[in-house]
Amino acid sequence: MRHLLEIDDLSTDELKDVLARSAAASLDRSLTGKGVALVFEKPSARTRNSCEMAVYQLGGLGVYIQGMELGFDVRETTEDIGRTLAGYYDIVCARVFKHSTLERLVSTDSVPIVNLLSDAAHPMQALADILTLQQEFGADISGKTIAYVGDPNNVWRSLSIAAGMLGANLRLAAPAGHKPSDEDLARIAAAGGDPIISHSPQEAVDGADAVYTDVWVSMGEEGDAEAKKEAFSRFTVTNDVMAAADSGAIFMHCLPAHRGEEVASEVADGPASRIWPQAENRMHTARGLLSWLIEQ
Ligand code: CP
Ligand code: NVA
Repeated sequence: MRHLLEIDDLSTDELKDVLARSAAASLDRSLTGKGVALVFEKPSARTRNSCEMAVYQLGGLGVYIQGMELGFDVRETTEDIGRTLAGYYDIVCARVFKHSTLERLVSTDSVPIVNLLSDAAHPMQALADILTLQQEFGADISGKTIAYVGDPNNVWRSLSIAAGMLGANLRLAAPAGHKPSDEDLARIAAAGGDPIISHSPQEAVDGADAVYTDVWVSMGEEGDAEAKKEAFSRFTVTNDVMAAADSGAIFMHCLPAHRGEEVASEVADGPASRIWPQAENRMHTARGLLSWLIEQ
């Protein structure tokens, strides 16, 4: 049984297959008569709505369930919730605080599990990010340079692995106290990536084809907010930072954006910004992934 907890749960060929399905104009109806659970322990604008519409487009029923209603390890064990949902649904997708919750759902070996964001990874976002890059630069993004300015978080991790799998160059600009772990770097290297790590946004962005950022304080990290905002205060993507990139460079952000923190509005709303096609691509790639997964 296949699952998607991190983007390298797919082989490179499978990743390309999912992306090709996502870009296809014709819709398949592979979820006809099937149900997909969409469980959320955290809020969402893009993930919930894109997945609900993707399931609908594939002919299935997507059911939104608040994590609090299920009560992981409060009302009953995570494993018992997994076994229960598997009796009704063909796929269980979940946005969770702890990545281990997803691993425990997988351990019940009952139904495919899809990560809709955890503290560790956001593979469904990485799919949309890569599709957005392909729409800009063509299906082969090998040799393109993505500069990620900001927190090496769940979004950075999945994007870095995906980019490595497809041969793109990666650069990270983050403060000295917020470096990726050796485990992160090993996993990206295993996927084929070789990230360059800098403490200067201008240096990381120099000549890049795409500049990416995400919030400095992720959901669940609110207790560290003041310290992180202080640490990242020199890492805002402004027009000055974008000016160091290639003249045809695009700006990307998974959203939600905190304008004036990780990105200036002049960039988010500027001519290089691809944030709205990128957000729309969440639906196309959710459709591509679910269509691929149900076939396995
Ligand atoms: N990018 C993303 O996952 O957005 P939401 O948190 O709104 O789902
Ligand atoms: N890193 C962010 C992404 C939100 C889509 C978070 O985890 O809150």
